[in-house]
Amino acid sequence: MSLLFQPLTIRNITLKNRITVSPMCQYSCIDGFATDWHLVHLGSRAVGGAGLIIQEASAVSPEGRISPGDLGIWKDEHILPLKRINEFIVSQGSVPGIQLAHAGRKASHDVPWNGGKFLPEDKGGWQTLAPSAIPFNEGDTVPTEMTVADIRQCTTDFITAAQRAMEAGYQVIEIHGAHGYLFNEFLSPISNKRSDDYGGSFANRCKFLLEVVHATRKVIGYNIPLFVRISATDWVEGGWNEDDSVQLAKLLKGASVDLIDCSTGGNSRQQKIPLAPLYQVPYAEKLRKEAEILTGAVGMITTALEAEAILHNGQADLVIFARQLLRDPYFAFHAAKELGAEIKWPVQYERAK
Ligand SMILES: Cc1cc2nc3c(=O)[nH]c(=O)nc-3n(C[C@H](O)[C@H](O)[C@H](O)COP(=O)(O)O)c2cc1C
Repeated sequence: MSLLFQPLTIRNITLKNRITVSPMCQYSCIDGFATDWHLVHLGSRAVGGAGLIIQEASAVSPEGRISPGDLGIWKDEHILPLKRINEFIVSQGSVPGIQLAHAGRKASHDVPWNGGKFLPEDKGGWQTLAPSAIPFNEGDTVPTEMTVADIRQCTTDFITAAQRAMEAGYQVIEIHGAHGYLFNEFLSPISNKRSDDYGGSFANRCKFLLEVVHATRKVIGYNIPLFVRISATDWVEGGWNEDDSVQLAKLLKGASVDLIDCSTGGNSRQQKIPLAPLYQVPYAEKLRKEAEILTGAVGMITTALEAEAILHNGQADLVIFARQLLRDPYFAFHAAKELGAEIKWPVQYERAK
């Protein structure tokens, strides 16, 4: 029996297989609202048989958006269109998840197809927030160093966003702690130069993320899986590294996080990434073994055989695909055929089986 098509139960939620749609910004919103694009985009991956669909980085506050086109969950009006999408995903036997996010100093950028450059306030951007007043790119506007009051406000924003996510029917909550966005900026000594309780020591740099994790768990209760996506390494000498990630994963596990979605990089222009198929999988494996927590492997995983091997080798519990699932929303159908697994197709498509 193929491992990729084996169900996984975390708390009260059962995923029908291990194929997971990685969160992917679509930069297609106005004022944070989901549109028909999202229904069709996410709905197609549900029709295509993915077990878990983690919706794109969804901003908990307007200033937490990467771009003006980001999806948002900072006001109650955002709930209804999201609920409609989630009901469709559930009707197809998939589980809807959401990635709650704040972009920190990497907020206020143009959408990628307009060049993705920093947007100053006079061009529709806004003042960014960060642990320390250090811009990601030289030449970007310097972010405002968050006060403790700003940190408390941001925690409240995550709490209310998680409440709205529950109302919208999400069954998995993921906190975005990776790719150089706000929590990653607090974790990494490259971007966090604070001298208060939220900077300096390893424990202090982890404090903000752990506070938000505790608060989020309280809101979502104990039946819903809670994931955290981290960048397991900054890929920079003297930066955040894989041993820090193991320590963090242990703390997150203690704080009732169920799974670490294991990515890397994104917090420094100096990063040197040895890009190659499966290049991040060893990090998912290390965290799984050393922190004894469920992990998701992501990054340049494109084939059914690769995914099967990752599970067979005990490197991860979920296989998370991004671009491959953009190319092929029906990847699960093709993978099942290749691995000899019998899976249910939508009745409407059965004649194509
Ligand atoms: C269009 C696009 C949008 C993305 N948006 C997000 C996002 O919202 N949150 C996130 O954590 N990663 C995001 N990523 C990164 C992916 O989730 C994934 O980690 C990365 O693409 C590596 O996986 P892949 O090689 O399967 O594409 C995005 C990637 C792409 C291609």
